[in-house]
Formats: sequence, C-alpha cells, structure tokens
Amino acid sequence: MKICIVGTGYVGLVTGVCLAVKGHQVICVDKRDDIVKSINEAQSPIYEPGLDSLLKEAVSKTNLRATTGLADAVMQTEVSIVAVGTPYGEGRIDLSQIEQSVREIGDVLKQKDKYHVVCIKSTVVPTTTDTTVRNILEKASGKKTGRFGLAMNPEFLREGRAVEDFMKPDRIVIGAYDKKSFNTVKRIYKGRFEAPILRVNLRTAEMVKYASNALLAALISYSNEVASICEQTRGIDVNEVLEAVTLDKRFNPRVKGLLTNPEMNKYLKAGCGFGGSCFPKDVKALASFADSKGYSAEMIKSIMKINETQPLRLVSRLERAIGGLHGKKVAVLGVAFKPNTDDVRESPALIIIEELMRKMAQVVAVDPIAVENADKVIPAYGTSLCYSSDYKSALQDADAAVLVTGWPEFSAISPREFVALMKDPVLADGRRIYDKQSMEAAGMVYIGVGLTDM
Ligand code: UDX
Repeated sequence: MKICIVGTGYVGLVTGVCLAVKGHQVICVDKRDDIVKSINEAQSPIYEPGLDSLLKEAVSKTNLRATTGLADAVMQTEVSIVAVGTPYGEGRIDLSQIEQSVREIGDVLKQKDKYHVVCIKSTVVPTTTDTTVRNILEKASGKKTGRFGLAMNPEFLREGRAVEDFMKPDRIVIGAYDKKSFNTVKRIYKGRFEAPILRVNLRTAEMVKYASNALLAALISYSNEVASICEQTRGIDVNEVLEAVTLDKRFNPRVKGLLTNPEMNKYLKAGCGFGGSCFPKDVKALASFADSKGYSAEMIKSIMKINETQPLRLVSRLERAIGGLHGKKVAVLGVAFKPNTDDVRESPALIIIEELMRKMAQVVAVDPIAVENADKVIPAYGTSLCYSSDYKSALQDADAAVLVTGWPEFSAISPREFVALMKDPVLADGRRIYDKQSMEAAGMVYIGVGLTDM
C-alpha cells in the first residue's frame, strides 16, 4: 500500500520505517528540511535502537522517502497517518500541530478524487477525531466524511524499544468512522503483523490509549506510594514487598513453573518517578479531559501528585544525610528519563537537579548520551551546574551522589569505586540498582527508595 506519514518524531519515523520494511511504499512528510535530508540519506534523526539499520534497508529498497511536500505525498498515497506532537500545555493538550496538519491534508483532499483515509496516530483526547479533526477536514476539503475515510489508530511504543513494539504489537486498535475506513487501515497490518486487530469507534480508540498509559503510570505511583510507607517503617524493604505482590496469579500466572507475565513486574518497581514524552502528558490530559466532562478523576490526579513529590523526597533524604546541601558537590547519575534513550523530557532528573540547585548545591550531572538535551532544557543557574559524560569525573571529590537513570554503566560502578572517588561516600539510589549491604560493607552511606533511613 502507498502510505503517507505526517510528522517524523519517534512515533512517525518508527511507524514509517517499520511499514516500509514490511513492504509498503511510504512517504514521510516533515516541515524541517534537515530532518527530511537526514532520512533520505538513511541517517536516523533520532536515537532509537534498531531504527538506523531498518531505515537503511527501507531507503535502499526504495520503499521509503521523505519530503517537505505534503500535498504530493497525500495525492500519491491511499492513507495519511498523522503522527505529529500533541504536547500538554496550559491545562490541556495542545492540538495546534494536529489542526494544522489535517487542515493541509483537507486542502489536498479537495482536489483529490481517489478515496483517501486520514488516520490519526498522535495521542488525542476522546472525541478529538470525530469532532475537531472531522470538522477541519470537512471544511477544508468541502466534502462530507465518508467520501474520504477517517480512523484513529493509537500507538503503544516505548521509547528505546519502539521498533520491537511496532514489529511485535500486543494489539492493533483501529477506531474507524465507517467500514471502508476500517478495512483500509486494516490492510496496513493484516497478514504482516501477528496481533489481534480490534475494531472500535473513533473515541473508544482514543480512550484506549489514555486508559493504557494511565494504568501503567498508576502502577508506578502505587509502587512509589508503598515505598514511601515502607520508608517510614524500620525493617520493610519495598522490593521484597512488591516482588511478593507481583507473584499473585491474577497478574502473573505460571506455566510449567515460569512466570507468564514478567514484563508486568517492570511497572511494579519503586523508584524516583516516571518521566518521558507520554506518561506525564497523558495522565494530565486524561485528568483535565475528565474535569471538562464534569468528573473529577481523583485517582488519576493522585498519580501525578505522587510522581511530582517522589524525586523531591529523595533530595530531602539526601539533604538530611549530609547535613545540608549548600555548597556541596552532588553528582547526579543519569539525566535521561530511562536507560537507552537520550530523551530528557519530564525526566525526574530535571526536578532533582533544579531542587539541588535551589538548595545551593554544586551539581555535576552525568549521562552516557543525554547531557546535550538536558543542557537545552534546564535553565542556566550560573556555575552551579555542569555536565559530564564520564561518571568518574562527576564522582571525583563529590559530597554525595544521586542515581536517577539505571544505565548499565552506572550499575557496574562498584562500591569500592564510589568510596575511592567520592569525598563523602553518600549515595541516594533512586532506582535501587545497587545492593545496600555491599554498599554499606564498603563504607558507603546508602539511601534507597522504599528503605528506611532509621
Ligand atoms: C510509555 C508506554 O509504555 C508506551 O506503551 C506508550 O505508548 C508511551 O508511553 P515510554 O514513555 O517509552 O512508553 O516509557 P516506559 O518504558 O513505559 O517507562 C516510563 C517511565 O516510567 C520511565 O521514566 C521509567 O523510568 C519509569 N518507570 C517504569 C518507573 O519509574 N518505575 C517502573 O517500575 C517502571
């Protein structure tokens, strides 16, 4: 099939590349010349494991090309998949990029006689596709929906594992305006991907995405809240508690003694909070959508409240342990919101760094690949913040360290190395990647999420 992808962020580009590798003819559209050039030269403009080699394969097979010309791309294809950003701002999601893209697509549909489906992949709150998007398309094209197709096909891609998640989906959800739209979008996937294809209406598809992300985020905040209770009580380790909880057969049935759902356990781990381009934005958007419908979603709101205080709790505990942060050198290990990405959006590291600087600490933040991105988003605080890509220089003579991102290179730092490098060997472990006993045996003061300081 000939498919146009509008927007080449990590969702759009991964979608385009994977569909091209699966044999479709894909045209990726982006407004930025540098991104288009880079895609056509088979260089991925974003860091996503596995994407570069698939992009090379797709470009060399001539199954994929990029352009800034949206009109031609829509004219030459059967479906436009819209994957532009929907950031959260001013109390609700910002639909301006979606509105602009579908207006431009609508203008093209005015001149296009052949049937074309507009399929929204960006995360949008329920009713957006069959109200805002539909109205703009009808107005711009001068045609009633039905003469063109309309669908909503949410993505469930984890950053860092987006290619794998796209190629091996758990489910493919297609919200469709009518049968013809559904059948067209279904042809993209049918026979190429092994997963149940669910047909729902447009607004249900939109809600599935929010409900899925809110559940995962709720599990994380739940784990973090249990951790905070454990911290108040001597002798309870949240890791032991949650491990036992996850063995419940309703989460994790065993087949021949093996857990069938070990992935689920990853969201039942206490830490210093979630970040990224999806969870925080989607949870906030769902809560404000519920408010707009006259329902105050208290549980959804608490997910964010817990997540916002979680990094600050760690800083307070560190402050208590070293008797004040003023003028102290603190190494922050990790700025990416999780390992294997250079994305720092909504990373708990940003909250931790800003709090440390507010308390007048001297911060050295270290990350294997994300320091450049952090430098762009953290406001300059004079000389009290600097970056490094080498953990040794960050830890050298430090008064304390905070582990935020569980990169393998940080897990490999031995207790002895910490002690040898640091001035005061105090570590706050925001992901529980180190073993408390070994740390303490080497002489470290170890602060762990979900473990008491008493
Ligand atoms: C998420 C969803 O998983 C994906 O399905 C959706 O389409 C987009 O949002 P992503 O943002 O890439 O994907 O992140 P994910 O790997 O799910 O982790 C999110 C955050 O939660 C990270 O900051 C991670 O560090 C944190 N996390 C995860 C925890 O704090 N504790 C955990 O137990 C698990």
